[in-house]
Amino acid sequence: MPPDHPDHPERHLATLAIHGPASDAPAVGDPVVHPLVQSVNYVQAAGTGEGLTYPRYGNAPNAERVQRTLAALDGGEAALVLSSGMGATACAMLALLRPGDHLLASRWVYGGTRRLFLEEFTAMGIDVTLVDPTETRAWRKRVRKETRAIFVETPVNPSCRVLDLRPIAYLTKEIGLALVVDSTFASPVNFRPLEQGGDVVIHSTTKFLNGHHDVIGGAVVGTAPFIEEVRQKMMVWGQAPDPFACWLLERGLKTLDVRVKRANENARRIAEWCEGRPEFAAVHYPGLASHPDHEIARVTLDGYGGMLALVMAGGGEAASRFIRRLSLIQHAASLGGVDTLVCEPRFTSHAHLTPDERASQGVPDGFVRVSVGLEDVGDLIGDLEQALSG
Ligand SMILES: Cc1ncc(COP(=O)(O)O)c(C=O)c1O
Repeated sequence: MPPDHPDHPERHLATLAIHGPASDAPAVGDPVVHPLVQSVNYVQAAGTGEGLTYPRYGNAPNAERVQRTLAALDGGEAALVLSSGMGATACAMLALLRPGDHLLASRWVYGGTRRLFLEEFTAMGIDVTLVDPTETRAWRKRVRKETRAIFVETPVNPSCRVLDLRPIAYLTKEIGLALVVDSTFASPVNFRPLEQGGDVVIHSTTKFLNGHHDVIGGAVVGTAPFIEEVRQKMMVWGQAPDPFACWLLERGLKTLDVRVKRANENARRIAEWCEGRPEFAAVHYPGLASHPDHEIARVTLDGYGGMLALVMAGGGEAASRFIRRLSLIQHAASLGGVDTLVCEPRFTSHAHLTPDERASQGVPDGFVRVSVGLEDVGDLIGDLEQALSG
């Protein structure tokens, strides 16, 4: 892998995740672990408004520290941490769009993002067109003079489809649109959208970046002027994270590189094992040669990810029965942590759609999303096997 950021040629990603950029190097006497500063207020000089530190402004010590690390990991000029992934998407898009503007968004996005765009943004007078990213020239055909941005998510939750950013970035650069990429499923270990023409990166840090199922958070990465605009939105819309959430995120990031690589390897082994089992009508994992986007994933990603999806041949009933029989792997809605989790999107992110609509999005009943954790892969496969034969 090349050095990860032109501004940090001396540090590779695993080093940046632990130490942050070189400019954050500690002085003699500094603690090795950056301390938690659980303070809302900071003493100011009298007679001036300068130097106001306040967690809702995104400038308290733990936020600033982890923001520098996140910017370095994605190769951006700056980053902002927020109180959830949805908060990150909302504030980033509010910084880009005004009433009367038009947004082009992939129809393959997380259910909460879809609701934000179709219910909230349209009520604010922002027109949103959902685009099928597999259609030829899909984006170009739908651009209008009011279009300001293209929003995509890749790899896609929960289908594990992978989009090729490069042709979309070619279009956004040509006509001056912002390309916003939700890269939650990949993390910067597997994918850095700014290197492939993206302008803004969104993460739900709740997932792989923190990685321990104990923090809810989000992040936006981009140019310094844009991140300042997002910060201005966060200051008044109020999605700032608590210092302890920032501290936990910084702690989680220290193991990001090893965690994601182990999850990638476990997921590949599980996907290959599942592909040979008749109980599954389909196994969706970008690392499998059978995956429709395998070639895009091979060329554009550094790792195929810790997420996969299984489609039970027996449909929804079989999926629920299978999940009930699992004993090590737990049934829970989130993803990207050390524990392996499964869920049925028909009850979570896709619950608001009809079975036909779900199927048309590649999520038929019987679809089980697997977030592969860091357990021994033999134990995980053993659990899947006993649940299938139980
Ligand atoms: C791809 C993606 N983006 C955004 C979000 C929202 O993140 P959060 O739950 O941290 O608000 C999720 C949550 O599952 C997600 O999967």
